[in-house]
This record gives sequence, C-alpha cells and structure tokens, in this order.
Amino acid sequence: MAKAKILICDDEAEILRYLKKILEGEGYHVETYSSGTELISRLEGSGFADLLLQDMRLPDMDGLTIFNQTRRIRPDLPVVIMTAYGSIDTAVDAIKLGAYDYITKPFPKEKLLGILANIFERQQLKEENRKLKEDLQVKAPQLVFRSRQFREIYDFTLQVAASDSNILILGESGTGKELIASTIHNSSQRRGKTFYSINCAALTETLLESQLFGHVRGAFTGAFSTQKGILAESDGCTLFLDEVGDMSLAVQAKLLRVIQEGEFIPVGSTRPQSVDIRFVAATNRDLEQEMRSGRFREDFYYRLNVITINLPPLRERPDDIEPMALHFLERFSKRMKKQVTAISAAALEMLINYQWPGNARELENVMERAVILARTNEITVDTLPIWKKDGSQLANASGGSLSLEALEKEHIRAVYEANSQNKSKTAELLGISRKTLDRKIVEYGLGSR
Ligand SMILES: Nc1ncnc2c1ncn2[C@@H]1O[C@H](COP(=O)(O)OP(=O)(O)OP(=O)(O)O)[C@@H](O)[C@H]1O
Ligand SMILES: [Mg+2]
Repeated sequence: MAKAKILICDDEAEILRYLKKILEGEGYHVETYSSGTELISRLEGSGFADLLLQDMRLPDMDGLTIFNQTRRIRPDLPVVIMTAYGSIDTAVDAIKLGAYDYITKPFPKEKLLGILANIFERQQLKEENRKLKEDLQVKAPQLVFRSRQFREIYDFTLQVAASDSNILILGESGTGKELIASTIHNSSQRRGKTFYSINCAALTETLLESQLFGHVRGAFTGAFSTQKGILAESDGCTLFLDEVGDMSLAVQAKLLRVIQEGEFIPVGSTRPQSVDIRFVAATNRDLEQEMRSGRFREDFYYRLNVITINLPPLRERPDDIEPMALHFLERFSKRMKKQVTAISAAALEMLINYQWPGNARELENVMERAVILARTNEITVDTLPIWKKDGSQLANASGGSLSLEALEKEHIRAVYEANSQNKSKTAELLGISRKTLDRKIVEYGLGSR
C-alpha cells in the first residue's frame, strides 16, 4: 500500500505538532487542521484522504457534529476519535455511529500506531477481497445492438427472464442464441447460481444416461462410485439445452418426464430425486416442421416453449452491424495488441450491404481477420473478403483466397511494423522465440523496409 494520508484535527497546536512528527516518522503523509470549519472545507474539496484522527473538543464546533458532517461528505473515510480523559461517553456515541475506534489522551505513541496499523490492514484486506471477487466474476459477454428490433427483443428478454418459465430461443445459426440464453440466466433470480449448457446434438442415448441422470454405485459394471449427473448439478440453476432440435426422440421422452414431474431417477436407483431447474432451449431448426415429420415430440415442444424468443438474422437488422463490428474490432485489437480503432466509410458500406448468412459469428470472424490484416489503425476494404451479391464469399480483395501461411506472414509483418521492427518485442507479442522470428523474417522477406 502506498503511504497513507492522515488528516488530524485538534485545536492544540502542541498536539498537532507532536502527532505530525511521530506519524511522519512512520512514513505517513499528514495534514493538520486546528478547527472544525477548516477540516470540513478540506473534506468538501476534492483531495484524497485515508483516515481522520479527530479530537472531540474543538472551540468552533462540537465533536459529534464534525463527525456527522464527515460521514455525510466522506462516508467511507475511517475516523479515529481522540478524547480527553473523562469524556468517553461522546467517543462511545461516535463509535455507535460508525467511527472505527477511539483513543484517550494522553496516550503512548505505540497505542496510536497500533490502532492505525490495524485499520490499514483491514482496509487492505477489504480492497484485496473486492479485487478477488471482481476477478472471479465471469464477465458475461456483452450484447451489442442499435436496431429498434433488437431493442424490443432485449426488453422482452429481460421481462421474461424474471418469470422463471421455460424459454425457447429460435434463430438462424450465429444470431446470438447462446448469448441471449446466458443473458436470461444473468437477469433472472437464478443469476447467483450456475448457467449449465449442454449440446444436445452430441448427446447419444448412452451418454445421456450417465451424463444427465448420473448413477448410483454398482448400477453397472465399472460403476464403482455414485456419480452425480448434470440434472442433479443443475438443481436451482438454469440448464441450457443447445441445439435441442437435434435431440433424439428417446432423449426427448426422458427429459420430458423431468420437466413435467420435476424429478428423475438416477441409473441403478429406485428413488426419484426432485430438482428445480429452469430450462432454456435453442435451435436453428424449424421445430414445427420437425414435429410434422415426427422427429420432434409435440408434448416436449409445448413444455419447453412456454415463451419463444425469435432472433432475426443480422441482414434484417442492418442497424446493428456497425456497433457490433466496432465491438468485435475493439476486442480483437486489444487481444492482438494492435491499435485498430476505426472502419473506413467504404468498408462500413460493404459490411452493411453484405447478407451475413453466418450472422454475428461470421461478422466476428470477418473482423478478427480484418484486424490481423490491418496495417493502419483503420479497417479498409482490402482487409475484407470480396462478397458476391447473393451473399456468398468470393476470394480475398488483396488477391486470391489467403492461405494460412499468407495470413501468418501478414500478421507477423503487421506486428513487426507496428513495433518499429523491434524484434524482441515482436517475438514476445507473437508468443514465439526470437530465433523462430528471425527465421520467419528471412523466409517471408520482411527484413528490410
Ligand atoms: N448482439 C450481439 N452482441 C455482441 N456479440 C454477439 C451478439 N450476437 C452474437 N454475438 C456473438 O456472436 C457469436 C455467435 O453467437 P452465439 O454463439 O450466441 O450464436 P448462436 O445463435 O448460438 O449460434 P449457433 O446457432 O451457431 O450455435 C458469439 O461469439 C457471440 O458472443
Ligand atoms: Mg449456439
């Protein structure tokens, strides 16, 4: 911790001088004030302070008034009260109101130093805890949009998130279904619990049994211990069923029971276990069509689909393209330690006119590639792919589809130039050894300007 700044308020010049001397001797910064008025006007200013050491008896203001004013102006400033022998009552009052501690005059210097050390230690712990918590919090990815359509969807999402009913999210691939699902969880009463996600397309029937339901010891050969399944883990949480349209009929039947009854039976057990799970499901398939062709159970559909959120494709909300592109730009620019901050007018026009069959995910990829290729702080047309009118992708604007090798060359060149051809820095940023960099520079002919 940097040297703490301590304010002292006392009307006796002798005491101020004495305290200043010992505290400065301990490495603290000290400011002294001889009246309540002076102190209050200092606190009302913008200067920082770590602690206030305040006498209870001052000629111009009563100590409790000063204390209350301080609390109002700087609610977080720790205050230690100094009292003369015999006036402990007011000190006790101040403690009740939230002063950290008090000390009775006259006191040995060790006693004061002990109190201060204690306070600063506690402050530091508090600060460390706060930082730790901040680091632990998984930062939910940010939803970015500008269009009126998406604003309505977002408002609706927040509204239904609070309801705790099951939700089905529909939309083309890459429209942000998973992001909406996690937004639902983070805006619901379950936000303090875990957001579990399973990919239903990957769930075969055999995997399902063990993964979802868990099993008890001895349920089958090799089941040496009881294994908790995803359903048991998800109790009280949100369970996201991604690609629910790809779930097999048998799995649908088994999950239907869980949703209907709120309970399931672990493999090898006879005792049903009850669970409280909020289901959020998503698919890019047309479930009505799937039901008609018998690939999706109707009863399961109606259980999941209490509320539907339809995510429109990106091409139907072109107003979202610019803010999203800039959002991805910032992210990749930071990740690649480049200073690409803008998109040229022509490049932006291309982005807006494109059909985006892969939606937000495709835009994300295009921006990542553009940041790699950018040689200035602006995304220009030649860093974008060339697109045909029908939305399909042609070759790269800078001539031919870029091979992985060409991309590597471009990236090394960009980082190398951005760092004024400083090799150690470039190697460090690229995460390769200096030797490897030297070899690549020769190989790609990047050596001389
Ligand atoms: N509105 C948005 N703002 C910021 N990022 C977004 C937005 N929509 C989507 N993304 C990002 O685009 C990518 C694709 O989104 P997501 O995975 O949620 O789509 P999806 O609909 O689940 O796709 P798929 O059907 O392919 O599984 C993710 O990296 C996501 O963070
Ligand atoms: Mg998805």
